[in-house]
Amino acid sequence: MLDGYERIITVGGGTGVFPLYFVQQICRERGIEALAVCGYRSREESVLREAYSQLGCRTLFAADAGDLDIPGHAGLALEELLEQLPPIDSTAVLTCGPRPMMQAVADIASQHGYACQVSLEERMACGIGVCLVCACKVKQEAGETGYARCCVDGPVFSAEEVVWES
Ligand code: FES
Repeated sequence: MLDGYERIITVGGGTGVFPLYFVQQICRERGIEALAVCGYRSREESVLREAYSQLGCRTLFAADAGDLDIPGHAGLALEELLEQLPPIDSTAVLTCGPRPMMQAVADIASQHGYACQVSLEERMACGIGVCLVCACKVKQEAGETGYARCCVDGPVFSAEEVVWES
């Protein structure tokens, strides 16, 4: 997931900031440059702000309510961050949160030529690849689409694989 990248940017929305916090910790342990964007509905509903601040990585906090660093969703904050950063080819954007936000983040990463990994939050039942409750639509070879099981094939997918309109 992190191998081969010189710079990692995590973009979490709502509870999506939790798993990405651990990614940030791993980046720190491995000496990978890491930056973070955390998006919330409002300052009041924000979580882990202190923990992210203590990581020492550059972090932008966005809020729909406009009462944190950046007004609007995390994708807007990502755009602002990328405008300020020198381009580095081996950059990956990792995102977790509401699906529309992740789609916006994937588009922005693509516009900058950066790889993007998304953590899909499908409902799960069995968790072992049997019930198919967690099926998510993905692109396959030759331009066809099919389904992957989020629980065993993911939950992290390359953004290029995901069929967003499903
Ligand atoms: S949760 Fe049953 S197949 Fe994924």
